[in-house]
Amino acid sequence: MATELITALDVDSESEALDTVKACEGCSWFKVGLQLFVRSGPQIVTTIRESCGKRVFLDLKYHDIPNTVGQAACAAADLGASLITLHASGGRKMIAAAREAVEGTDTRILAVTVLTSLDDRMLRDEVGLPETAGEAVPRLARMAVESGAHGVVASPHEASGVRAVVGKEALVVTPGIRPAWAVADDQARFTTPREAAEAGADFIVVGRPILKHPNPGEAVEHVLKELRG
Ligand code: C5P
Repeated sequence: MATELITALDVDSESEALDTVKACEGCSWFKVGLQLFVRSGPQIVTTIRESCGKRVFLDLKYHDIPNTVGQAACAAADLGASLITLHASGGRKMIAAAREAVEGTDTRILAVTVLTSLDDRMLRDEVGLPETAGEAVPRLARMAVESGAHGVVASPHEASGVRAVVGKEALVVTPGIRPAWAVADDQARFTTPREAAEAGADFIVVGRPILKHPNPGEAVEHVLKELRG
């Protein structure tokens, strides 16, 4: 499938979110994360879907006991979220519970492996993981997909390695994208939309380069053009 663009709605209110959705007409997918979800409530998902006709990636990164995650996955499916996230480190039973809860719906589950904000020293000294991120990411990605996740979130630099372990059917979603015309912000290791597509991403997630652009709709068109090569 051609790589799709997801615009991250990292804003503080429903009205800002809906203005952005309207301005970004060319984009079919929007990500609702913790910031917007906690401020605006779950109805933002149904509004984007039903009133704007767009698809929603609900990025709440679930990590809890299997029963709770299963119930929360069911709730996200009821809202009509097309993609949801959970932490692979919650383990096989938690991932399987989420998968069981969305069976028969159009909701797909993505696993987050190791947050890119964690480096190898933090993983060892703070989290207590006896592996580097480079070792943990493919191991967790494989385990998550074997346990029922439909795909994984990966940095563009990890995308091809992750693809090799999860197979071609699994979804690979990459944030950390900066088009050549955008400033880097706090993203230290990023790639362009085209590079992410070439690394095998099914979806790229782009936030600030679109949100902070004087004309977000134009920024979307630039990214889509670059994706289509
Ligand atoms: O940096 P930008 O504004 O494009 O970020 C887009 C989205 O990707 C944000 O919602 C951010 O939380 C998410 N993200 C990221 N880097 C990661 C994982 C997620 O930028 N490694």
